[in-house]
Amino acid sequence: MTKTVVGFSKLTKEEKIKWLAKTYLSDNKTAAATIKKYWNDDDELQQLHDEFIENTISNFYLPYAIAPNFIINKKPYTIPMAIEESSVVAASSLTAKFWSGRGGFKTEVISTIKTGQVHFMFEGDFDQLQDYFNSIKPALFESTELITKNMRKRGGGILEIELKNKTDKLKDYYQLHVSFETKDSMGANFINSCLEAIAKTFRKEKIDIVMSILSNYIPECLVRAEVSCKIDELGDDAETFAKKFYQAAQIAEVEKYRAVTHNKGIMNGIDAVVIATGNDFRAVGAGAHAYAAKDGQYRSLSHCSIDDGIFKFWIEIPLALGTVGGLTKLHPLAKLSLEILQKPTAKELMQIVATAGLAQNFAALKALTTTGIQHGHMKMHLQNMLNQLGATQAEKIELINYFDDKQVSFSMASEALEKLRVTKQLE
Ligand code: MEV
Repeated sequence: MTKTVVGFSKLTKEEKIKWLAKTYLSDNKTAAATIKKYWNDDDELQQLHDEFIENTISNFYLPYAIAPNFIINKKPYTIPMAIEESSVVAASSLTAKFWSGRGGFKTEVISTIKTGQVHFMFEGDFDQLQDYFNSIKPALFESTELITKNMRKRGGGILEIELKNKTDKLKDYYQLHVSFETKDSMGANFINSCLEAIAKTFRKEKIDIVMSILSNYIPECLVRAEVSCKIDELGDDAETFAKKFYQAAQIAEVEKYRAVTHNKGIMNGIDAVVIATGNDFRAVGAGAHAYAAKDGQYRSLSHCSIDDGIFKFWIEIPLALGTVGGLTKLHPLAKLSLEILQKPTAKELMQIVATAGLAQNFAALKALTTTGIQHGHMKMHLQNMLNQLGATQAEKIELINYFDDKQVSFSMASEALEKLRVTKQLE
């Protein structure tokens, strides 16, 4: 049977599922039923989700949770998180509580500049190109006036347009490097529309425009979050804890194998909030990892210091986020998340998201340098394993109690469940 199809997007949802099930899925009926089980009963809501993308056949759920007790710049927050990884929300809540008793998180936005580029080829003389650029620059700004009108009213817009000579990297390659302030919107559509208008005006004989697109590398859209306290406020065996934590942070500064995992832990917290607020986690991830490699070696995004008896742990991360536009108002749960966060500006959201990343990183390093990560991780994962093994609610309660002070693995959980069932039969 052929597995290619013509005019697929024109088929109805039912027809798409039928084609899919018939072509790829061995048990047609069960497969179609699984797909439909995730449809929402509310037709209007389902249609809203259907229309986010093309060829929608169902919804893919992620758990949506909240982590309370965050104190950020003295203000309390409950942070919504959408994530499937078992221990992330529990770790966030624990860390939030831990630091709420030690002054909370202190955050600041360092800068909010985003960039985009018109990439082009030019075979002629650079001085002539520079003269042409200088003469047309006011017209480049003018060509975007209609697009930037509302943004300018909100205090944003195009900050600067520069001509950059990149011929040392690639023959005949130049760019218009454009910087933007996009206020409370993430600004992707705004930036790309401006760039396309600029490119159209800039176009001329011998200038061969290749493409116009925003950059997800945003080293000038930076936020910082920090926690600090006296070492002896860190709890049991504070000196040893602080020392090991510091060493773990140092290792991630210099060792890229560790740095990537360290930063992955940060992104566990960041992505969960970025998704819950309807923001673009791929853009955030790309920008964050590129920033981690900004000096030519991939390094940790967070840092630790111990000076004069003070333990300090902080993160500096670029984040392009919006609290207006895009999915933020369209997706009912994204809208709700922003309400839970007390309707933040994009700058406030940057600070909340950076906090979630730092909190997650603190929890991971704390666990790694004390009990080991599997202790808490597998405990949280136990519920998933028991679900996979088909345990009933009563069995789950008994087995979660049983494993409270024991190591756990999938085979151990399976064995314990079998044993429990045999015991129950004998009773
Ligand atoms: C797991 O999702 C994240 C960690 O590996 C992060 C880390 O090692 O720092 C626990």
